[in-house]
Amino acid sequence: MKVSAEILNLVPYKTGKPISETQREYGLTEVIKLASNENTLGPSPKAIEAIQDFIAHQHRYPDPSGYELVQKISEVWDVPATQIGLGNGSNEIIDLLIRIFCEPGDAILTSNAAFVAYQVCAQAARVKVRTTPLKKDLTIDLKAVADHFFHHPTQKIKIIFIPNPNNPTGTIVGGEELEEFLTRLGNRDDVLLVFDEAYTEFVRDPNFKEAAKFYKNYSNVLVLKTFSKVYGMAGFRLGALLAPEYVLEYYNRVRNPFNVNDLAQVAGVAALTDHEYIKASQKIVWDGLDYFYKELSRLGLPYYPSQANFILFDTKRNSEKVHVSLLKQGLILRPVQNYGFKTLMRMTVGNEYENKKAIVAIEKMLTEVGEI
Ligand SMILES: Cc1ncc(COP(=O)(O)O)c(C=O)c1O
Repeated sequence: MKVSAEILNLVPYKTGKPISETQREYGLTEVIKLASNENTLGPSPKAIEAIQDFIAHQHRYPDPSGYELVQKISEVWDVPATQIGLGNGSNEIIDLLIRIFCEPGDAILTSNAAFVAYQVCAQAARVKVRTTPLKKDLTIDLKAVADHFFHHPTQKIKIIFIPNPNNPTGTIVGGEELEEFLTRLGNRDDVLLVFDEAYTEFVRDPNFKEAAKFYKNYSNVLVLKTFSKVYGMAGFRLGALLAPEYVLEYYNRVRNPFNVNDLAQVAGVAALTDHEYIKASQKIVWDGLDYFYKELSRLGLPYYPSQANFILFDTKRNSEKVHVSLLKQGLILRPVQNYGFKTLMRMTVGNEYENKKAIVAIEKMLTEVGEI
């Protein structure tokens, strides 16, 4: 059976190496994983408590509309319930938006080194991926993105994806640049502007403008949110789409009716209002980032200041070799050669113990792997 060239050439999304696999391969008992931008605190205790009663109901299908969760999101995030869609992680929403709004041969537009899922989902749907270069400081060049759209009308670009902050760079686009972008592209009826806001709760830069707060002013602005980061629910698989009603109408037609299971729905309701947990998640990340800035400076390793729960730093060495040296010491980080960065590593912020262990392992690695 033949498959299309797009599927043949598809490089699947590379996930962080699992802890158990690393333990087996390297004969280790303790392994620290700072490779998937997960929340080191574990899920909110309120979420864990809330799902207990529902475990015994798993012979039933979940509520296909996610009614309670949608109502809670509407209340907490101050968005109309009619403008909220739910997904099996925001990754599923990315996939569905491309399938809904792009035909084979159409294109999506994003930046170089933007979150890789856009590319994987587009290619799987036989949709082309167009990109623009990053700026020198690894921020997304929004002006270049808008220019590209206007200069290439024949490319049939249907969706523009802007991860803000971006993964793996941890950078944001500035408020002024964002406004100019919206002035040029907002309210068009031939292109959707999707702001992927997986990490906004960790942003400290005052120059940040959150699309979740302004998307309602535009007919073509969509926002992706995830429960995998500040809410600590990566394993539950829960994402949300904030969008105009007409988008939701198509979205709810196409999605699997039971795409979000009951446990995720119930845990999501509890996590949304666990303000103590949310504050603790932010604090642990901010303290950890400040610690990494200090320690990476001490080790002479340049880094990119981060607005997310991870940091991208320059090992000045081949990052695949660095990866192996760290694995042997029981530390899983993420090399990002697939984004075109040969010497950079992405490190998620862990707890104090994990962060200290990571720095010790990195320091040791510096003596084992030669500089490029
Ligand atoms: C920018 C960005 N968007 C979306 C996601 C996907 O999150 P989810 O777990 O909701 O699928 C990630 C995950 O790392 C991400 O970095």
